[in-house]
Amino acid sequence: MPEKRVAISVQNLVKYFGGRKVLDGVSLDIYQGETFVIMGGSGCGKSTLLRHMTGAIAPTSGKVFFHGRDLTTMNDEEKEKLKRRFGMCFQSAALLDYLNVADNVGLPLVEHTHLDPKIIRMIVKMKLGLVGLQGYEDLMPNMLSGGMKKRVGLARAIALDPEIVFYDEPTAGLDPVVCAVVDKLILDLSHKLLLTSIVVTHNMESVYRIADRAAMLYRGKVLEVGTPEEIKNSKNPIVQQFIHGQIEGPIDFLRLDQESSELVDS
Ligand SMILES: Nc1ncnc2c1ncn2[C@@H]1O[C@H](COP(=O)(O)OP(=O)(O)OP(=O)(O)O)[C@@H](O)[C@H]1O
Ligand SMILES: [Mg+2]
Repeated sequence: MPEKRVAISVQNLVKYFGGRKVLDGVSLDIYQGETFVIMGGSGCGKSTLLRHMTGAIAPTSGKVFFHGRDLTTMNDEEKEKLKRRFGMCFQSAALLDYLNVADNVGLPLVEHTHLDPKIIRMIVKMKLGLVGLQGYEDLMPNMLSGGMKKRVGLARAIALDPEIVFYDEPTAGLDPVVCAVVDKLILDLSHKLLLTSIVVTHNMESVYRIADRAAMLYRGKVLEVGTPEEIKNSKNPIVQQFIHGQIEGPIDFLRLDQESSELVDS
């Protein structure tokens, strides 16, 4: 078996917002070509971790490496270049209401390349084909279902032929069948385009369907990393409570606010 190459390495990441510690020493290696899921409850820091990996925000301390290059010390120009190698699919589909489907998908190409509009049109058509939305170019976002919007978001995320695609809750708010369709699409795109995919979700069905490996985040810390099977067999009672969606257990939902305030440094 070929040696695994680390695509993204997160090392001892700490992030404070105001006085509040949201990431508390996160370390993770994500391998090239894998589909890696970041799972965990609401507010545990998933989106914040993802935004550090894309270079969108800077850590309080710790490092993020992309193929050995330190993202946290890059200047804006270097970061901008790097971002062309990343595709992003946001928590809400984040389509621009005043642009049709084709222009939404083509936006990264307009922003980051000098390609002729005709070529952009062709690329957009191909990307829409990959997400099963060929022929939908002229529709406006308000004419699309939630699932279709997510797919347009996926097409936009792969517009620049990225190496890594980051997905933040790609299936949130979708019915179980559409959720499965979007999960399958994420896997298909990963395999067809040889992508590294990093997916944030709190949907356990999705974790089992798509993850090569997953990390469970809780109160800004990684509790467990492994294959879905390894996560399922975790001895950690917090992981067990989360994956089974149990009310009883060490996660005290009524006290979550209080727990959060315990993170505040006095
Ligand atoms: N820019 C910010 N400024 C201040 N606090 C922030 C900021 N971004 C996130 N936070 C706080 O950090 C904590 C973690 O937020 P984050 O969005 O990473 O959680 P999450 O795990 O993605 O949650 P969800 O599943 O609800 O999307 C929250 O308490 C949030 O209020
Ligand atoms: Mg989030």
